[in-house]
Formats: sequence, structure tokens, C-alpha cells
Amino acid sequence: MREQHWVFGYGSLIYKVDFPYLDREVALLRGWSRRFWQGSHDHRGTAESPGRVVTLIQDEDALCRGVAFLVEESVFEHLDHREKNGYERHSTKLHLEHRDETVTGTFYIATSDNPAFLGDAPDSELAKHIAHSQGPSGSNADYLLSLANALRDIGEHDEHVQNLERHLLALKQAP
Ligand code: SIN
Repeated sequence: MREQHWVFGYGSLIYKVDFPYLDREVALLRGWSRRFWQGSHDHRGTAESPGRVVTLIQDEDALCRGVAFLVEESVFEHLDHREKNGYERHSTKLHLEHRDETVTGTFYIATSDNPAFLGDAPDSELAKHIAHSQGPSGSNADYLLSLANALRDIGEHDEHVQNLERHLLALKQAP
């Protein structure tokens, strides 16, 4: 049998599933928070004007809900290429909610020492940055809005993402 792995998606991997998978489960990751702190030169921005995408920041008491995909080993070639702008694979324990089972899985994380990392800023600034960014994969606003919708679909209330969505929608409505 070919080797199979659980891969945890917490950002665009939740809603842009451009890879084959064998199973899909809503999953919880303990000790990490989702933040729009990573720069994107290759998807939602450019080298001159990077957009902002999510990474995970260590946060002892936090629980991050996302989607775990069961994939064959060969899928990593595609995912490593897709996540190449600062992300690295990291191994972790994941809780598969419906199965009520804990498994070992992999997620992609962009740590603060990668050259594309942008870090924190007030929500209003983050939303302005996102509203004005655009890259080969589309607008940065679509990334945020698609993620906010996908999180709602899996029952996740992520205050950081929801606040940014609120700011972004207000900017879009402003005359
Ligand atoms: C992920 O979705 O798990 C990683 C971040 C991204 O590609 O948006």
C-alpha cells in the first residue's frame, strides 16, 4: 500500500483544494493561532508589493480549527511547491473531530525568521493592506473572504479573521 499522510489546512488549503485526497475531516490543532502575518509574493501579491496570507503563531492555550486531508505521499510535491514562499512542513498531533481520534499529521508553517514574514499590525492596517493587494492567484481580498466563509462552513469562530473581514467589507462600502 502507498504511504498516506494527514495534512492539516488552516488557510487557503481549506477552500482551494487543487490536489487529490482520500479523506477529509474537520480537525483541531492545539497550541497555535491563525494570523495574517505572512507576506505573499507569489499568490496574493508580488515581490514589489506583497499581499498578506495566514500562518500559525504559537499560542499555548489556543485551538485552531481547520481541515485535515488524507493524502498520498506524492501530493507533497505539489503542496511543497504551492507553499514555497516561506512555509515549511511541521509534524503535529491533530484531533479529527467527527472520528474523535488523534492522529499525527503535517502542516505548513511560515515562521517569523522567513524573509517573507511581515508580522503584526492593527487590524485596520492589515485590512487596508489586504484590500489593495493582488497577485497571480487573485486578489488578497478574495483570499480573506473565501477563508472567512470556509471557516464559517466548518463551524469555526476565528476572531482575528472575522475582524479583518468586517474591516475589509467596511472599506469596500466606503464611498
Ligand atoms: C494552509 O492553508 O494550510 C497554509 C496557508 C495557505 O496556503 O493559505
